[in-house]
Amino acid sequence: MYVMNTWYVAAFGEELGDGLLARTYLDRPVVLYRRPDGTPVALEDRCCHRSLPLSLGRIEGANVRCGYHGLLFAPDGRCIEVPGQNTIPPGAQVPALPVVERHGYLWLWPGDAAKADPATIPDIAWNADPAWVKTGDYWHLKCNYELFNDISLDATHATYVHPATLGSAAIQDTPPRIERDGGVVRISRWILGCPAPPIWAAAGGFDGPVDRWILATFIAPTGSCFDMGAAVAGSGAPEGDRSRGISNRTAHFVTPETARSSHYFWRFGRNYRTDDAALSETVHANIRRTFEEDIVILEAQQKALGDRLDPRRIDVNADIATLQARRLVERLLAAEA
Ligand code: FES
Ligand SMILES: [Fe+2]
Repeated sequence: MYVMNTWYVAAFGEELGDGLLARTYLDRPVVLYRRPDGTPVALEDRCCHRSLPLSLGRIEGANVRCGYHGLLFAPDGRCIEVPGQNTIPPGAQVPALPVVERHGYLWLWPGDAAKADPATIPDIAWNADPAWVKTGDYWHLKCNYELFNDISLDATHATYVHPATLGSAAIQDTPPRIERDGGVVRISRWILGCPAPPIWAAAGGFDGPVDRWILATFIAPTGSCFDMGAAVAGSGAPEGDRSRGISNRTAHFVTPETARSSHYFWRFGRNYRTDDAALSETVHANIRRTFEEDIVILEAQQKALGDRLDPRRIDVNADIATLQARRLVERLLAAEA
């Protein structure tokens, strides 16, 4: 079951060049391409004639031609040409899906097109802002998207899964503040006067204790965005003065491919020492390694779960944030059911 009436990331903008991009989203094959003016198009990737994927055809101007018998489809999915005849058969059309490019992402709306409002696209403006130096990637995950939501919203796993980069035993002793606000859950942790975690110690040059923050925003059903950083302990960061600290942003968007596989789009950005190439190399390599450590956990979990939809499990205090996120997704699913 998937939430349908929402924007999902289909691709990073730069992934879609002048060719056809085929991906399955929510069990449905889709082909993406750009019109000559760059505007993206998303069509169901199955010709309405004999079901060849349109992604095996070719782009002609703003249209796409099927690679089997040459039917030509417009960006709205209507067939506009059938080779060898002058008329178009009634109903010759493939479904078109709303798709919008914003903040460096292509956002796809798989549900009721009449409800697709671009104003509700999450605001990840820093991702398209040159003031932020960024790294990131697209990864295909062999796991359900909710397992990803779990790991991204649970800061306590850092101690065990990321000891060399983000780990810090103080996380477990600092319960988060959790606020729900419409379709988002905000999970905030301030850890005051703690040793700097290895990755931030190197990036910020801290030689003493820091005040550290992990401010997460879960954007149901599959987005989690972070404002993370550290500042010299007692220098006023919790009150809003971050001048003696470093701030990092992360955006994770996971779009279901199937019940057991997902498309993962991650971005990490920093706005300090932006022309320091050596820092980019080490911080960005450490972040990549950190996220790769998460993927090992997720794919192993999915393997252990197999087809069991509702395995027996227990919950602990540290699950408070992930349970809030799961409940929010459940509510959205129930509202659409
Ligand atoms: S299958 Fe596409 S034109 Fe025949
Ligand atoms: Fe992690």
